[in-house]
Amino acid sequence: MTIQWFPGHMTKARRQIQEKLKLIDAVIELVDARLPLSSRNPMIDEILQGKPRLIMLNKSDLADPEVTREWLAYFKKNGHTAFPVDSYTGTGVKDIPNQIKLLLKEKIDKQIAKGMNPRAMRVLIVGIPNVGKSTLINRLAGRNIAATGDRPGVTKGQQWIKVAGGELELLDTPGILWPKFEDQNVGYRLAVTGAIKEEILNVEDIAFFAIKYFANYYWDAMKERFELKERPADLENPDEIVSVMEDIGRKRGCIISGGRVDLEKASSVFLRELRAGKLGRYSMESPY
Ligand code: G4P
Repeated sequence: MTIQWFPGHMTKARRQIQEKLKLIDAVIELVDARLPLSSRNPMIDEILQGKPRLIMLNKSDLADPEVTREWLAYFKKNGHTAFPVDSYTGTGVKDIPNQIKLLLKEKIDKQIAKGMNPRAMRVLIVGIPNVGKSTLINRLAGRNIAATGDRPGVTKGQQWIKVAGGELELLDTPGILWPKFEDQNVGYRLAVTGAIKEEILNVEDIAFFAIKYFANYYWDAMKERFELKERPADLENPDEIVSVMEDIGRKRGCIISGGRVDLEKASSVFLRELRAGKLGRYSMESPY
């Protein structure tokens, strides 16, 4: 699902999250492991106002494991607690309650020192659309609670879901945030992974961006899949990237009158196969 974000939406989304912050102890910030910065909200630190936070790199099953390791080191270096997770199958999900407990250890210890029984820790999941918030909520709850594709600005009754034997309480409506639109490359990275719909950007431009990136970082995977020959010698030469697009189109029979390659069709086919995992695991950005 794609949301058209307008300034009014953003203000409302931000306000809704900040209202929820009063109710919770910690935040799970969900990002896409394939593009952990591009899938973050540009104002997240300001919005969360120092609330204890776990950064979860979701869809880690689709990301390049080596690059994910680099991202984990990057977040750690920047003082964050970050973990990979695959909400779809559940890998990494069962560690979340313990990680939250570690994050809130000081608070819990204080309650114990005062002779109180530590109460359930209340958690909110936040992230941009399509990052997997509803999938994670459903996974943690062990049942279908959150409808995938929630809309910003639509309020409904909030409920607390008990998780991990009641030690954790999760708000059933996630906080939906906008990505960093101002940077065109961010838009392209999000479009390549399917996080934003192709209609917003031109499909040929998205495929061009992805093919150039793959020619640089994952040439062997692309070469093997589409039986390509030579790696472009100069990646900054658009003609050479278009030439790869044409080769891909020819391999998939995307031909129009006069024997020319239908670049729009070739682009769609390429992106479809990429998103279906046919080119293997990949990451669209790395921290270094
Ligand atoms: P949102 O609430 O943040 O908007 O995201 P949502 O949970 O709706 O997830 C968006 C898409 O990402 C869904 O796919 C979902 O299945 C997929 N997804 C979520 N987490 C993971 C993960 O860890 N790994 C993988 N591989 N996919 C994940 P969809 O195609 O839109 O829906 P569906 O056909 O899977 O139901």
